[in-house]
Amino acid sequence: MAALGEATYNDEQFNTVSEGQATILFPKNNEVFYNPVQQFNRDMSIAAIRTWRDVVAEERWAKTLKKEGKTIDEAKAAGETVPVFKPKILEALAASGLRSVRYAKEIPDLDHILCNDLDPEAVESIKRNVAFNNLSEELVRPNLGDAKIVMYQHLMPKDHYHVVDLDPYGSASPFLDAGVQSVSDGGLMCITCTDMQVLAGANFTETCFTKYGGMPLRGEFTHEMALRLLLGAVHTAAAKNKRYVEPLVSCSIDFYIRVFVRVHVSPIEVKKTASKLSLVYLCQGCKSFVLQPMGKVTVTTSENGKETTKYGLSTHHAGANCAECGSNFHIGGPAWNAPLHSKPFVKRMLAHARANAANYGTSKRMEGMLTVIGEEVDAPLYYTLRALTTAVHCNSISLIDMGSALANAGYQFSVSHANPIAVKTNAPQHVVWDVIRAHVKRGPAKEPAEGSIAAKILAKEITTAVDFKFHKASNPPSRKIKLVRFQENPEKNWGPKARAGKKRKANADAPAQPKRGKKAPKTEPAAEQDIAEDALPEDAAMAEDDQ
Ligand SMILES: C[S@@+](CC[C@H](N)C(=O)[O-])C[C@H]1O[C@@H](n2cnc3c(N)ncnc32)[C@H](O)[C@@H]1O
Ligand SMILES: [Zn+2]
Repeated sequence: MAALGEATYNDEQFNTVSEGQATILFPKNNEVFYNPVQQFNRDMSIAAIRTWRDVVAEERWAKTLKKEGKTIDEAKAAGETVPVFKPKILEALAASGLRSVRYAKEIPDLDHILCNDLDPEAVESIKRNVAFNNLSEELVRPNLGDAKIVMYQHLMPKDHYHVVDLDPYGSASPFLDAGVQSVSDGGLMCITCTDMQVLAGANFTETCFTKYGGMPLRGEFTHEMALRLLLGAVHTAAAKNKRYVEPLVSCSIDFYIRVFVRVHVSPIEVKKTASKLSLVYLCQGCKSFVLQPMGKVTVTTSENGKETTKYGLSTHHAGANCAECGSNFHIGGPAWNAPLHSKPFVKRMLAHARANAANYGTSKRMEGMLTVIGEEVDAPLYYTLRALTTAVHCNSISLIDMGSALANAGYQFSVSHANPIAVKTNAPQHVVWDVIRAHVKRGPAKEPAEGSIAAKILAKEITTAVDFKFHKASNPPSRKIKLVRFQENPEKNWGPKARAGKKRKANADAPAQPKRGKKAPKTEPAAEQDIAEDALPEDAAMAEDDQ
């Protein structure tokens, strides 16, 4: 007999799996199983919710103190402490209940968690696991229902949840409209999408448009584009309901994406909706890209200091063809063009993850990802070293040389958590290519064929003072620590797992199953590995759903 809390269960029927402070019963009949790969998702979610809760508790306290004419610093100096804020959490698609059980045990002072699933067997499993973990059904409330209906039943502010967690198989898009309306003002939405074939592929462009309202692009930056398409979809769903979103952390992880966004109510901010979305023009020759905002916001200040904001149409500036090589563009988006992360939040979450490393099984990876995210330049999308040098058929260039040249020219530079050979920069496109043109001049290089893309790019005059002298910005802290970018391989063939059988039994999590004959995604616990396209599984189940 297995016994953890007061409930006991037959060992012949169940396996137990421990993750964080939870121990979960999984039926042995193989229709329900545990996917350890998602531990990182759950660890990050606990850290994000705890950090968000600290931020909100302080905001609320500051508001109360303001009425008393005091600041937080003054109150702290007088020995006062932040009043406890007890959030209500909705896990709308909960499967075995593992995530909710972990939230209940690892996030102190929760009001309650509504732990919902559509599948009656999943709800049985939730009940079993709540009891097995010695939790009350007052704290973790098992609920049978369709996630959308449950969320639409919580539209009134008094019924709102402070945190709404959406962790479906495939796309979260069907749940976004209800999600943004059931979360409180300033509340947190945690959203997973595993349909990367749709968000980051070339075969389901129409599907992507219908689900997310934007076209995907199979560029070097495809994983960041996926994040921007999802954020664009959450942003427009929120805007329809007089809300706007503030991304806190947006992560591209293995074969899925997970974003943490605050949702605020503000009809004024909603007026900026179009200007936070851009079409993305991707050159089919050299892979340069141009962002074309859908709207324009102009703020003017009069002589007496009064600000006037105007909202209008933006002007097309991408040109008919690529300015560097003259090739055609593919058009992607519209997609989110504003910051992917809140840097102060990332800093705080990183500090939390470090201080609580012993509590998180994937703490090394959390530290690695949050460190790289903290360093990311707030400029949309990226080039890669590989694409830049391939376009002109020259020798490779190191990140240090690329970063130094950009920094010496006065621009910011970073890699991306989604791609370690990314060149993220606020430098204009011609400056990036000037660095490559100057690199080619350092030779040796083959003479490009007449009329080729390489010839057109190299024929352009260098107008930037390019200096490859080492600049410390090219070597940030993340490059000095060994970052774990991928989940440690916990078992043989750990890759993404299918939803459990056609009967849809209560699964822990099972985003995708590689097609027969296809390899599971490679696992790379080492630093500096590219998680480019080949890490994405082809997923038969998802493709079926997503067409
Ligand atoms: C990926 S699993 C959830 C994993 C879970 N969040 C965790 O971390 O352990 C997705 C679950 O969504 C449930 N589901 C699918 N459609 C649903 C709907 N419309 N409403 C509620 N649950 C749904 C499935 O039964 C499945 O259990
Ligand atoms: Zn081009």
